[in-house]
Amino acid sequence: MIDQFQRPLHDLRISVTDRCNFRCVYCMPKEVFGKDFAFMERDELLSFEEMTRLARISVAHGVEKIRLTGGEPLLRKGIEELVAMLAELRTPAGRPIDIAMTTNGSVLALKAQALKDAGLERVTVSLDSLDDATFQTMNDVKFPVAKVLNSLDVAHSVGLGPIKINMVLKRGQNDQDIVAMARHFKGTPYILRFIEFMDVGSSNGWEMADVVPSSEVVARINAELPLDEVAPNYTGETSRRWRYRDGGGEIGVISSVTQSFCHSCSRARVSTDGKLFTCLFATEGHDLRALMRGGCTDEELSTVMAQIWRARTDRYSELRSAETGQLRASGKKRIEMSYIGG
Ligand code: GTP
Ligand code: 5AD
Ligand code: SF4
Ligand code: SF4
Repeated sequence: MIDQFQRPLHDLRISVTDRCNFRCVYCMPKEVFGKDFAFMERDELLSFEEMTRLARISVAHGVEKIRLTGGEPLLRKGIEELVAMLAELRTPAGRPIDIAMTTNGSVLALKAQALKDAGLERVTVSLDSLDDATFQTMNDVKFPVAKVLNSLDVAHSVGLGPIKINMVLKRGQNDQDIVAMARHFKGTPYILRFIEFMDVGSSNGWEMADVVPSSEVVARINAELPLDEVAPNYTGETSRRWRYRDGGGEIGVISSVTQSFCHSCSRARVSTDGKLFTCLFATEGHDLRALMRGGCTDEELSTVMAQIWRARTDRYSELRSAETGQLRASGKKRIEMSYIGG
């Protein structure tokens, strides 16, 4: 099944909760996600059965990788039950699905073993600095670095992996820590990835001046720790890989602002309340929850999902440089990352 630009559906990302215990400045700034913010009610969220149903149909359409996101996915009660349900799915050729999770690591140490036992393959942990003052300014809830580092070690020791670390860079906030982060994780089992701050959602006050281009990240690290570029692991990988010349492992850079990767984007997203989005920057999703709760059959659901994917023309990041001003000025409210899932 391919879309209008010949891109297959390969990757399904499910946001399991719109809540998070962090208030990262680039994602859920306190001024917007404050005490009065109306998060979703329980009955608005998809149930694990509904998520698994959508996943099963997506797998029949070619999905081989499922990522659980949020918000913070580990805040969803009983999340390991969902992992266990998804772990039973098989591709049409009989292969198991690659199941991953993107988490802030705050409660991962407590949950790692149960997640592994349920069939989770790997986790990606967000960590924006090793310096407590910087990290706490960015997560804005005074969460300490040491707890995230401990979570990484516990996750590794129970066999989740390969574990990746996502560092979102914001100019003037944590870009001074680029080389320190690289040094810290060089030679460890963890793959550090630097992410360009994106203009996702409408509340993070994005400006191009805040973006640290990946080319700069690579140049800064390469000046001290020489790097060579290596080929992607798979078509459509978000990250460009660079290997330390001395054999100390690899890093990745995710450059959705300066070098977009829409041409090979094979990702569909399901929001916390069951809307299907074919782009991170979409303004509207397709309400699959309404269909399911209205009693549609698997065949009907499958047909609708195929129609949506086949009609897909999204390539927001590619168009961004030409259109950012226009889209932002138009006042059309974009979807927040905590709702649609990173
Ligand atoms: P792997 O399976 O490990 O390759 O993971 P991934 O890189 O696909 O997923 P991850 O959640 O770690 O993504 C890292 C970051 O890349 C996200 O937090 C986003 O900032 C960005 N990203 C992921 N997918 C997309 C996408 O489809 N479009 C854009 N513009 N950015 C994306
Ligand atoms: N730009 C880039 N990455 C972001 N993330 C959240 N908001 C943004 C943004 N505006 C990343 C987080 C995490 C994942 C869920 O998405 O750091 O790794
Ligand atoms: Fe929470 Fe992740 Fe968003 Fe930070 S980036 S506020 S940890 S969902
Ligand atoms: Fe895919 Fe949209 Fe991201 Fe482009 S901007 S890579 S189409 S999700």
